[in-house]
Amino acid sequence: MNIAIPLPRIENTIASNHSIERTQLLSGLLSPQAKIDPKYFYDDLGCELFTQICKLDEYYPTRTEAAIFDKYRDDIGAALPEVSQWIDLGCGDCAKSTQWLEHMVPTRLVGVDIAGDFLQSSLTAVAARYPAIDCVGVVSDFTQAMDIRSLLSERPGAAPVFFYPGSSIGNFDRPHALRFLQSIRRHCPAEGRLLIGVDLVKNRDILEAAYDDAQGVTAAFNLHVLEVVNRELNSDFNTELFRHRALFDEAHQRIEMQLVAECDQTVDFAGDISRQFNAGEHVLTEYSHKYTIDGFGQMLKEAGFARYQVWTDSNQWFGVFLAEPG
Ligand code: AVJ
Repeated sequence: MNIAIPLPRIENTIASNHSIERTQLLSGLLSPQAKIDPKYFYDDLGCELFTQICKLDEYYPTRTEAAIFDKYRDDIGAALPEVSQWIDLGCGDCAKSTQWLEHMVPTRLVGVDIAGDFLQSSLTAVAARYPAIDCVGVVSDFTQAMDIRSLLSERPGAAPVFFYPGSSIGNFDRPHALRFLQSIRRHCPAEGRLLIGVDLVKNRDILEAAYDDAQGVTAAFNLHVLEVVNRELNSDFNTELFRHRALFDEAHQRIEMQLVAECDQTVDFAGDISRQFNAGEHVLTEYSHKYTIDGFGQMLKEAGFARYQVWTDSNQWFGVFLAEPG
């Protein structure tokens, strides 16, 4: 028998302005330190490469976080509100959320993601599997700004649980990470929670290997962003004239991913604009900040979360924090 399941409601909060985005991308590439926002990694091929990264021996975060979730799901679950709305920030295919939905049934799943088409199909699949959960999608670049308080207020009895796994918070610099946490805090009443995965500071060799694997998948992922840029800006970056580099910056406690020009070259952009890259000069493509448990705990407190619990692995490579207003 076929049961018709209504399509999940999708709200679009993106004032999609492609030309502003392009202007920002171009101005990043023309500034003295050339840079590309890491969001450009994730076209279809980029998402596929990232999935491969997550399976690499050297890339420990995904598997370590998953093991912490699996081991402590009961403990973590016991600290979550009984009646909740689950907000998955950057939900993608909702695979990580689904593991929790098996366990605690929120009244609602709010999937937030920048990729609208994908969001529709992921949520449709979740809605089919969990008919009791009201699935809502929000198309949003929540790394810039997000206010879904009015959406959440539709379910006044259901406390929001914000789910932000994968150490994606590492892409923000520290001031921006703090602002992001403050914005989540503004969405949380007393019973609200933030469940967030954070990659921890560790030995340089382990960190650099995680971002420069032996098979070259991360190199391919990094170089691929130039193809995305070529498509967006009609530019002519030659990926063969750049090489991938990942360095741990001890002072800032972050991995910095770069694309280093192998020789002097000129890159043309549409509209008669061009830029010279000298051999050795690099384009900055990503920061991945690492935290200590105390350092991240401090940041949660600064953001207005008075209490938190943390679960980690035996090496203390990765931390899962559950923060509450207190
Ligand atoms: C998706 C931002 C968490 O920083 O580890 C993985 C992205 N870049 N390998 C990270 C990434 C290169 C990843 N985040």
